[in-house]
Amino acid sequence: MNALQGKVAIVTGGASGIGRATAELFAAEAAAVVIADLADASELAARIVATGGRAVAVRADVSDEADCARVVATAVERFGGLHVLFNNAGIIRRTTALDIEPDEWDRVMAVNVKSVYLMCRHAIPAMTSGGSIVNTGSGWGLKGGGNALSYCASKAAVVNMTRALAIDHAAAGIRVNSVNPGDTDTPMLRDEARQLSAEWASFAAEAADRPMGRAGRPEEIASAVLFLASDASSYVTGSALVVDGGGLA
Ligand code: NAI
Repeated sequence: MNALQGKVAIVTGGASGIGRATAELFAAEAAAVVIADLADASELAARIVATGGRAVAVRADVSDEADCARVVATAVERFGGLHVLFNNAGIIRRTTALDIEPDEWDRVMAVNVKSVYLMCRHAIPAMTSGGSIVNTGSGWGLKGGGNALSYCASKAAVVNMTRALAIDHAAAGIRVNSVNPGDTDTPMLRDEARQLSAEWASFAAEAADRPMGRAGRPEEIASAVLFLASDASSYVTGSALVVDGGGLA
């Protein structure tokens, strides 16, 4: 229960889904957690504090540099440093090259890709005693997928940026890895299922196609993130950990 004892962590996209489950797990493992999201996560932060944990919610758009700087400053000012960064905020647009508008393409790239650069730009100098960065890629960043061109491009970028960041910052004691979920039962996936209802007769039927007969749970992604964030993975850097119940096999 103390895998992150003494650590300060930032979780982006922490108000919902995978980020929310990870913020809860990090706090349960004794980290002080800054929950950064466009949406209000103050209720989640208050719940963590009420159960003896340490957390603060920050409203922020991770595609905006000033917001990223403010998130990092909050970690340092409130909790005295920074050791773990989970770059997890993301969006998906279910469109092809023929129907995605250029401004939507730019938005997907800004939220999914530029945010990783911006958060790292501000977080790495604050990781003065080393640290661990985990970026959320996707199975689709590794193998591609249909009707989500911008998303697939953005997640492939995240996977390769992870390797580049790992090389650049290894000497400073900073490890950088990606976690690559398959279908995971979050509000994002349920929204997608609704958008694609002609293709996906129901969320449950889609999930039943998976080798394990179900989608993943946010908590199952969170435990993989905890491994990468903690000292249990002290010789792991630049890796792309797939957590998809066998979907890539
Ligand atoms: P979600 O939609 O439940 O949560 C995403 C969170 O990110 C939301 O709270 C949202 O407000 C926040 N967010 C969006 N844009 C933001 C911005 N500009 N600044 C700050 N926060 C922002 O989604 P879910 O499923 O938990 O996704 C988390 C990550 O996992 C995403 O990067 C997603 O692409 C990735 N992923 C999800 C999979 C799934 O099946 N659910 C599969 C593979 C990857």
